Order: sequence, then structure tokens, then C-alpha cells
Amino acid sequence: MRIAMIGTGYVGLVSGACFAEFGHDVVCVDRDEAKIRMLREGRIPIYEPGLDALVQRHGEAGRLAFSTDLKGSVADVDAVFIAVGTPTRRGDGHADLTYVFSAAEEIAAALTRPTVVVTKSTVPVGTGRKLQAIFRQHRPDLQVDIASNPEFLREGSAIEDFMRPDRVVCGVEGARAREVMEQAYRPLNLIETPILFTALETAELIKYATNSFLATKITFINELADLCERVGADVQVVAKGMGLDGRIGRKFLHAGPGFGGSCFPKDTLALIRTGEHHNSHLRIVETVVSVNEGRKRRMVRKVVSACGGVVEGKRIGVLGVTFKPNTDDMRDSPSLVIVPALQAEGAEVLAFDPEGQREAERMLPDVTWCEDPYAVAEGADALVVITEWNIFRGLDLDRLHASMRTPCIVDLRNIFDPETVARAGFAYTSIGRPAVAAG
Ligand code: UDX
Repeated sequence: MRIAMIGTGYVGLVSGACFAEFGHDVVCVDRDEAKIRMLREGRIPIYEPGLDALVQRHGEAGRLAFSTDLKGSVADVDAVFIAVGTPTRRGDGHADLTYVFSAAEEIAAALTRPTVVVTKSTVPVGTGRKLQAIFRQHRPDLQVDIASNPEFLREGSAIEDFMRPDRVVCGVEGARAREVMEQAYRPLNLIETPILFTALETAELIKYATNSFLATKITFINELADLCERVGADVQVVAKGMGLDGRIGRKFLHAGPGFGGSCFPKDTLALIRTGEHHNSHLRIVETVVSVNEGRKRRMVRKVVSACGGVVEGKRIGVLGVTFKPNTDDMRDSPSLVIVPALQAEGAEVLAFDPEGQREAERMLPDVTWCEDPYAVAEGADALVVITEWNIFRGLDLDRLHASMRTPCIVDLRNIFDPETVARAGFAYTSIGRPAVAAG
């Protein structure tokens, strides 16, 4: 089938490339001429493992095109996916739907045949209904069906998540929208992926409920980690014991410095606003947001305490600044709270991140950026792991010890084994596990 994907950000680009992988003819549309030029040259503006090969393969096969011409691109397609940004609106925490509605009006003007318009962007409950009204108002002459098809892609594993999803959620009204969505995802029948057809509002809410529940699960284990430190328990083992219960599951129970990224912070806030708007307050999600923000500040205290209570004049090496590994995305990363706070208390901060430096440089001023983890440790009084990039797991502890001024590691992602690090002569602080003195 022929698909137009409006928006070539992280969701639009991955979805467009994967629909091409399904064998559909896809054109990805964006207003940003520079970005479209990059994509046409096979260069990818974001770091997402495997995306460059997918874009190149289908671009060369002629199944995946890039254009700034929305009108021409949507004129003769079976489905138009809206995958534009829905950032948190400044000031009030609602999702900003400016780009969604302006895309919808442009699409309405450009349609020439009955088409299904699908929201792939994460949009508040009720947006699909509003889009229905927009298309009925602008194009009473055309049968335009609205569908909601939220994505559940994790940065760093987005292609795998699209190609092998746990489920596909499609909010539809009418047989035509259902047929088009069944055709769009037909290749997934081969792996028997459940496709859940729901009402529009239900599909929209499933997305927010899923992300907010995952954020809740993470925040639960993060708070439990603090209790573990008080009672001498090991949060990793608590999480394992919990996760073996089929009703809980082991994923998203890794305690850390708090969640970040382009979705959890935005989606939890938007769901809270929806609850307020409908006078059905989501008090648990409200608490999750406040606990999570406070946690990033608590991590600063943990680092300062590990440095003897003062970081004034001390050199602190930071390993990893992105909000999670395998991405270059810095949005709402814990490092954006932790690093400036340490600098404000007089610390000199050096940092290394395999992919995040380009993004982070403009967001974290006065940081000395290093080429590798060992350079970060040179003369450092503490080494702080903020992002669990795999390359940090195998660092040569003896080499680190020899180059640091004070052998102290603060591991906010529990990537090291406490006994091993203590034996290597480090004072070691981590999350939800007893601190260990140098062995
Ligand atoms: C998330 C959802 O997983 C995805 O389904 C949705 O489509 C977009 O938002 P993403 O934000 O890319 O994906 O990353 P994810 O892997 O979910 O991690 C989100 C945050 O939670 C990160 O800051 C991560 O460090 C943190 N996290 C995740 C934990 O602290 N502990 C965990 O066990 C898992």
C-alpha cells in the first residue's frame, strides 16, 4: 500500500523505514529542508542502531522517499500517518498539539481521494475526535477516516520494537479504517502479533497508561532502593524476587537515578493534565512525577556524600550523560540535573559519552569533554556512572585506580559488582545496595 508519513523525527523516521521494510511504498514528509536533504543523501539525523542501513536499503529500492512537499505526497495514498512532535506545552504541562493540527489542515487541503488519517504521535485522549471534526469541516466532500495507532518504540531498540512488537494498538471507526490498518501491519500476521482494535479514545489512553505505568514501576523500585540502603538489603535481588512473579515481570525494575527521555516525563505530565481536565485526578502518576524529579536531586547528595560531604575544588569524572544507553538523546536526562548541581557546589566536571557529547555540549556548559573513560578518570576524586553504556562494564579497574587522585566510584546504574570494586581498592557507592569501603 502507499503511505505518507508526516514528520521525520524519531518516531516518523523509524516508522516510515519499517513500513518500507514491510513492503509498502512510503514517503516521509518534513518541513525541514536541511533534514530532508540529509535523508535523501542517506545521512540519518538521529542515532538509532540499524536505522541508517534500513533507510539506505529502501531508499535505493525506491520504496522509501523523502520530501518537503506535503501536498504532492499525500494526494494519492491509502494512509497518511501524523508523526509530528507533541512536546510538553511550556508552562502548563499539556501536550502541545500545534504541529498535529497544522499538519491535519494541510493534509485536509491536499487529499484527492478517500484516505485514512492515522495519528502515530502520542496525542491526548479526545484528539482523534477533534481531527474527525477538522476533516469533516474542511473536506465534507471526501470520506476521511481517522485512526489512532500509538507507538511503543524504545530509543536504542526502536526497529526491533516496531518489527516485533508485543502488540499493535489501532483505534478505528468504521470498516475502511480497520481494513487499511490490517493491511498496513499484515506482515506481522506471520509472527502472530496481536492487533488490538479499539475505539479512538481507548487507543489514545492505552499509550499514556502504558508509559505512565512503566514510569510508576521504575519509580517504585527507585524508592524501594532507598529503603534497601537503610535496611541493608540488595535492591537488585529484591527486583529479581519481585520479577519472578508472573504478575509483575522482571522488566523496568532496574533502580537508577530516575527516568528521563522524550516520553515518560512528557506523557506522565500530559496524563495528569487529562485527569485534571476531566476531574478524575491520577494521584499516583502525580506522585511518580514529583518523586522522580526529587530523585535526580537526591543523586547529587549521594555523590557529594561519597566525596566526604564537600565537592568544592574536587575533580569529578562522569561516565555517560544520555538519558539511557544506545541513544544520543539528552532529553530530561538525569545528567542535566546532576552535573550542573555538582558544578554549582564548586566541582570541576569531566565527562565522556560514546554518542551524547554532540547533543550534550550545548546543554552542559563548562564540562571538560574527554575522548574516552580513562581520560575522565585522570586525577579525579570520584567517578560517577550516570548512563549504563555497555563499554563501561568492562573498564580496567586497576588502570582507573592508578590514574585517579581519590579511588571513589559512585555507580548510579549498578553496573559494577561491589566486592570486585572494593577488592580493586575503591570506595564504592551504588543504588539500593550497601556502600563498600576500599578492600
Ligand atoms: C519509552 C517507552 O519504553 C516506549 O515504549 C515509548 O514508546 C517511549 O518511551 P524510551 O523513553 O525510549 O521508551 O526509553 P525506556 O527504555 O523506556 O527508558 C525510559 C527511562 O526509564 C530511561 O531514563 C531509563 O534509564 C529509565 N529506566 C528504564 C530505568 O530507570 N529503569 C528501568 O528498569 C528501565
